[in-house]
Formats: sequence, C-alpha cells, structure tokens
Amino acid sequence: MTLTSDATTTKTVLASPYQRSVADYWNQERNPVNLLLGDVDGTYHHHYGIGEPDWTVLEGPEETRERRLVEELHRLETAQAALLLDHLGDIPASGRLLDAGCGRGGTSLMANLRFGCRTEGVSISEEQVRFATEQAERRGVADSVRFSFRNMLDTGFETASFDGIWNNESTMYVNLNDLFAEHSRLLKPGGRYVCITGCYNDVYGLPSRPVSQINSHYICDIHPRSAYFAAMAANGLVPINVVDLTAATIPYWRLRERSHLVTGIEDAFLEAYTGGSFHYLLIAADRI
Ligand SMILES: C[S@@+](CC[C@H](N)C(=O)[O-])C[C@H]1O[C@@H](n2cnc3c(N)ncnc32)[C@H](O)[C@@H]1O
Repeated sequence: MTLTSDATTTKTVLASPYQRSVADYWNQERNPVNLLLGDVDGTYHHHYGIGEPDWTVLEGPEETRERRLVEELHRLETAQAALLLDHLGDIPASGRLLDAGCGRGGTSLMANLRFGCRTEGVSISEEQVRFATEQAERRGVADSVRFSFRNMLDTGFETASFDGIWNNESTMYVNLNDLFAEHSRLLKPGGRYVCITGCYNDVYGLPSRPVSQINSHYICDIHPRSAYFAAMAANGLVPINVVDLTAATIPYWRLRERSHLVTGIEDAFLEAYTGGSFHYLLIAADRI
C-alpha cells in the first residue's frame, strides 16, 4: 500500500461504503478553521483545543484581531496534542510510533520533534496523506515521518512492531473491537496506547440530541464511554490513566464560537459538554 494508489488498493483500504464516504469527506475538506490555524507554524491539526485561552484576543485592535484569534486557537489545539504525547511515556529515538487516523499529520510531526523516533501516520484520505507527506518533506524529516494510505483496522504493518500508538479524535469512525484488536497486534508487549476522544455518557442514557447532531455533522458514530474500556479489556489493553478533559476543552469552544471561524457545530459541542451527556477523554493504556 503506497501513497499513489491504484483502484485495487483503494478498494482494499476503503473496505466499506461507509469508509468511502468518510474518505470523501476528508479528501474534500478545506475548512479554514483547520487550514488557517495550521498555516501559523506548518503544524496542521484536525482536533480540538484545551486550556485557558487568552481572552484579550477578542478585544484587541481590529488590525490584528483575526490573526491573534487564529494563533490562540492553534495554540490550544497544539496543547492538546502535546498532552497526548506526554502520555506516551519515554519513547527512545530508536522507537517507532503509529498515528492512527493521522489527518494532515500535525501530531506525527510533533512526536518526531519530541522523541526523534520514526513515526508512521495512516489515513483513509489520500489527499491528507499527500498533504502530510509534503509537510514532512518541507521539514526534511520525510525519512523518519512517513504517511500512508492505509486503513487503521487492517494496516498491513508487522506484528509487535510499534512502541506506541495513538488515536487523536479518530476512534469515532470505527468499530472499537476491530480497532483495538489491530492495535494490540501491532504494539510490542508493554507498548503504550493513548487516545483522546469525545464519548457519550452512559449514565445519561443513549446519545443526546447534540451528540446526534455532532454525529451527523461529521458522519461519525460517537461511542459510549463504557465501550472504550470493554474493548480495551477484550484486547489486552490495560488503562493506566484516564483524564477527563471536558472542563479543559469548554473554553476552547467558547472562544471558537465567538471567532470569525465559527463552523456551526460549536453550539452542539457546548450544549453536549455542559449538559453532561458528552465527555472529552484521554485514555492511556498498556499492552499486556
Ligand atoms: C478528526 S480527524 C483527526 C485527524 C488527526 N488525528 C488529528 O488529530 O489532526 C479523523 C481522521 O481519521 C481518519 N480515519 C477515519 N477512519 C479511518 C480508518 N478506518 N483508517 C484510517 N484513518 C481513518 C480520517 O481520514 C481523518 O484523518
């Protein structure tokens, strides 16, 4: 499976009509909230932010207001990725990491910068793989940070060949049992898995209205909190840390809803988080 794929490869990677529709979405996606933020320093994220914003960006001089807002949202999204990497533990420069559902590759590039190790990013969007590869080439790290058009449920990588794997907001596109079975196969014993994800609150019941709105907006299927722990336990992944990031992400959404980059989904996220039907969780687990 390579970067430039023929029809047979595409059919193998995109194994279902659902996966083809997700790939179409990301192949066509050109949202300024992702591209303008990435342009700040060439690190492109497709995830949300955490931490306390500098609210003065909303009131500063008009000439610099939009630019400062963009930089501030980007800073919060980069802080989210940095926290995920903190939970991978000590990865040696000789190590190898997998970014499952890598988007435009921002977290992979940050991981390589931090640990100096090889990183593989996989996405079912060929356009994202092309874009991310270009970023790695621009930085001169294309030998150690590689991106490929692969399905994270069936990557084709060798068994027990990774020291760490993460999903940064990409688990809601797949069946968790299938995903964790593949991660479990790929991780070395003692290897670390980390995900940051939105999940719905089992205590609330079934998905609330705003959670359903988020699902339909992104063509995804947000899982209940319980599904993560059940699927991890079934696949030899033992949680070592669970961090509820809900309170830490709400200010990001409040800033974003007041920005010029508003996409229309901000209200649903805020209603879901503040109403208690939805959590933003980090889960770190070891492969036993
Ligand atoms: C919300 S984006 C997150 C991107 C990236 N992790 C980040 O933090 O910037 C979701 C990503 O999951 C990828 N994805 C969804 N289903 C996938 C699958 N079955 N295999 C590989 N990638 C998948 C999409 O192509 C997209 O890149």
